[in-house]
Amino acid sequence: MTTRANRSAGANVYVRRRFFLRLVVNFTLLAIFYCPIAGAQSNASRQSTLDTPALDKKVDELLGKMTLEEKIGQLVQYSAGQATGPTSGRTDDRDMARKGQVGSLFNVNSAHATNELQHIAVDESRLHIPLLFGLDVIHGFRTTFPLNLGLAATWDPGIVEKVSRVAAQEASAAGVRWTFSPMVDIARDARWGRISEGAGEDPFLGAALARAYVRGYQGQRLDAPDSILACAKHYVGYGAAEAGREYNSTEISEHTLRQYYLPPFHAAEEAGAATFMSAFNSLNGIPTSANPFTIKQILKKEWGFEGFVVSDWTSVSEIMAHGIALDGATAARKAFLAGVDMDMQSNIYHRNMLQLVQSGKVPQSEIDDAVRRILRVKFALGLFDHPFADESKEAGAMLRPESVAIAKTAATRSLVLLRNESVSASTLLPLSAKVSSIALIGPLADDAGNMLGSWSALGRAEDAVSLRRALTQKLGDSRVHFAKGGNILDASEADIASAITAAQESDIAVLALGENAPTMTGEAASRSKLGLPGRQQELLEKVVATGKPVVLILFSGRPLTLPWAFEHVAAVIAAWYPGVQAGNALTDVLFGDASPTGHLPLTWPRSVGQEPLYYNALNTGRPAADPDHPAEPGEQKYVSRYIDEPNTPQFPFGFGLTYTTFRYGNTQPNAQELSVSSLRQSLGTIGNKVLTVSTEITNTGSRAGETMAQLYVRLDGTSVAMPVRMLKGFQPVSLGPGETRKITFDLDANAFAFWGADNTRGVEPARVTLWIAPDSAQGQPTKLEITER
Ligand code: NOJ
Repeated sequence: MTTRANRSAGANVYVRRRFFLRLVVNFTLLAIFYCPIAGAQSNASRQSTLDTPALDKKVDELLGKMTLEEKIGQLVQYSAGQATGPTSGRTDDRDMARKGQVGSLFNVNSAHATNELQHIAVDESRLHIPLLFGLDVIHGFRTTFPLNLGLAATWDPGIVEKVSRVAAQEASAAGVRWTFSPMVDIARDARWGRISEGAGEDPFLGAALARAYVRGYQGQRLDAPDSILACAKHYVGYGAAEAGREYNSTEISEHTLRQYYLPPFHAAEEAGAATFMSAFNSLNGIPTSANPFTIKQILKKEWGFEGFVVSDWTSVSEIMAHGIALDGATAARKAFLAGVDMDMQSNIYHRNMLQLVQSGKVPQSEIDDAVRRILRVKFALGLFDHPFADESKEAGAMLRPESVAIAKTAATRSLVLLRNESVSASTLLPLSAKVSSIALIGPLADDAGNMLGSWSALGRAEDAVSLRRALTQKLGDSRVHFAKGGNILDASEADIASAITAAQESDIAVLALGENAPTMTGEAASRSKLGLPGRQQELLEKVVATGKPVVLILFSGRPLTLPWAFEHVAAVIAAWYPGVQAGNALTDVLFGDASPTGHLPLTWPRSVGQEPLYYNALNTGRPAADPDHPAEPGEQKYVSRYIDEPNTPQFPFGFGLTYTTFRYGNTQPNAQELSVSSLRQSLGTIGNKVLTVSTEITNTGSRAGETMAQLYVRLDGTSVAMPVRMLKGFQPVSLGPGETRKITFDLDANAFAFWGADNTRGVEPARVTLWIAPDSAQGQPTKLEITER
């Protein structure tokens, strides 16, 4: 298929080589001003580190010495200790390393353990090729940061880069040089448990954060000992699982795939992500771990990806269960020829590849290409030069004070204030430090383990500060009346009664409710009901019935449908799982030592029946005139709406309150027209300004505060229907009380480009509507034209 994108593939290589030169200049400058966390917003591409003649030479030399068996060994990966078994023909990891039968091991987590195995590979194997050690370092290694959805709620690529830099420093100190992160799956359905691991529903925000993760993990230099490989996963469409059920099939048109699901992956690739992981799901009937169109055609050919693709855990052998292979050999052949270079855990390349090559079913040239990719990455990572971790430095790399400080900033910025009603003249939050007593209630109030979220690598509960610990530290024991009120899944009458008593005896009640992170969020944790588990809803209602002002802190890996709470509880904070600094960050926000700045990276539904619900949806031919109401008797019937629920969400994408209020002025573009020809000229180049859009924002409250100004675009009159809004820019704006500032967004041609009916990405004549707004449902629109000229 021809695209406007792949027609410029040659130009792409040229651009990359120029990036390489720019990188050399950047490094020189960086050497002068070097600071490990600085350069958080740097745009330099690292792709060039996989694409140099010096690297090619090393790879070719080594490849020339390898036997076919040794080449196949590089395509094989296992979780440590799990390769053996009656059918595997293996003894153990050591033996495999010694014989060159394995290219990568994962779940080996200490410098001592990685070094031990690495010594066998490097000292005892024939060609001394080092092993690549991987791990799911998802939101931190030892220092656990907020869950990824919480990190996304910061809308802050800078903090995401810092977080992933720390994760890289800690992981590499243990010899782990590869993380299976970031998960950049677009997810529009909160039933899907893994919505917690991504950046939500929007391709623009998702792409910005994908770049930030890659920059943080891979660092300024991929071959620095404290850099680790990023792995963009799960390629692709995994987040569109039908009905939100884990591992379920997906049906995504090519237009929707390219327009919404692929951009964060493409951004990760452009930022230099050295590896990709193919997914579990089938996409339009083809398992994604055997899909040549997405892997070979789009990723490797159109985008020019030079790294390698690893399968997800046994996703190669699962091709048989999907139904497109009757035996392991066919599964291996289909996955490999589709472009999956490394087989995670299936044992299926190991068992079948030799025979497949010898029988001519898999060409030797394809084996060489895959091995070349893997070796190129190992060389680029500096693994041949420094294969071992320094055991004496491992402990000192963990939980450094500066890392914990980053964890606190990230946690604070991840909290989203959803509701803050007035209680006797002023809003309930922030609380006064003079409050005489607080009833702290709920199964998650004193649960340090849960604060680590669903996937905390080497995180330990003892590292985490619970809400109870932080609150008690601030107010003293006697002013905090703690009552657990039962467990997440059950509670006795006595549990609930003691919570009510605690509330009655206090000025204010703070409830910490939600899901159990390890079992109810993340992988294999899809839910068909999105309310509070167990008796927590009842507990909440009974505490509210005491008449005491209530603050509800929700710990969850997804939005929860709690219409009653959003009507009756004075203040609600979405806290996700904030990581090791949970209690401290929450206490700061509760008492106003920090103001909330988080914004929703997804649409928060009112009810499960609305799912999948996302802001960048199409208008339909019969949009509801008043989407805030369900159809009422006598009203216009034949429009796109429910008869029992509004179309609108509980909270829109981008929403988040703080302790002051803002007024957004009219959105103003600096031109009324743009021409297709001038836009086409600058398409593909980033940062080539074609339009400036501005507005004035005023802090209308009496406290200083930060708003997230969001720029949205709508295109009408185009060859394919485009969404009612698309995010194309965002920037935090801090203003003192009463202060007004004019802010501007400089848009490049990419803000108006999309995949058209001819299946190419470009610009078309259109009517453009623009908003600068505090979320996806507000703002004063303004219009301009993209004309034919
Ligand atoms: C399965 C998960 O889907 C994937 O995200 C993870 O990286 C692998 N297991 C390895 O643990």
